[in-house]
Amino acid sequence: MSGAEKEFNSMPTLGVNIDHVATLRQARGGNLADPLAAALLSEKAGAQSIVAHLREDRRHIQDRDIQLLKKNIKTRLNLEMSVNSEIIKIACRIKPYQATLVPERRKELTTEGGLNVVSGQKQIAAAISKLNKSQVAVSLFIDPDFKQISSAQKIGAKIIELHTGAYAEAKNLKLRKKLLQQVADAAFYAQKLGLTVNAGHGLDYNNARALALIPGLNELNIGYAIICRALYVGLFQAVREMGELIQ
Ligand code: PXP
Repeated sequence: MSGAEKEFNSMPTLGVNIDHVATLRQARGGNLADPLAAALLSEKAGAQSIVAHLREDRRHIQDRDIQLLKKNIKTRLNLEMSVNSEIIKIACRIKPYQATLVPERRKELTTEGGLNVVSGQKQIAAAISKLNKSQVAVSLFIDPDFKQISSAQKIGAKIIELHTGAYAEAKNLKLRKKLLQQVADAAFYAQKLGLTVNAGHGLDYNNARALALIPGLNELNIGYAIICRALYVGLFQAVREMGELIQ
């Protein structure tokens, strides 16, 4: 369902990012930690999409994981990726339901900041066009910034994902409120431009609910907090709790 079709007062769906299961597997090799098994269990617990990031350095998710996820999951595969031409080729071949374009830096611990659509218009527009031609919907992961949002719309994006990292990391309540409002204003502005609006990054069991209450948000994509909670309560329970929290 697109954000435009979504009822304004309905709550966002939950996309579960399973990269961290692959990180655990890569630490030792073997298949004791299996991203596909985690994805299937997450779906059973209520995840409405599965998010996986095929990085250029392949530090967690591997090409084979994406093939297996595409073939076996029952919900939607949201492939996070950079605008690297090799990765675009892979995405066009595998055809996930959606590609979410993110910036990528070699040494980052996780995706730091959104795409700069203002300065990278040409390259990002070309990536959108290639992916769309292969029937892959495209979302742009951007900061909650009006200039980035209007550039995204101008170059033909239909979906954006607002970067919630700054909100999630706010050191005090006053700042957190301010940054929550910034995401809400950005979401409102983007919806007025006709964009479907997702959000994610750094969300956890304490900060996701306030965000989910922003009107019209389509989907929240959450990984790290769910996988960490799964260590103590199991993955099914961890996904279920997050689903209940945001829905
Ligand atoms: N959305 C995007 C675009 C991301 O890059 C990430 C991190 O891979 C997430 C959501 C999930 O972030 P987290 O693991 O902090 O929940």
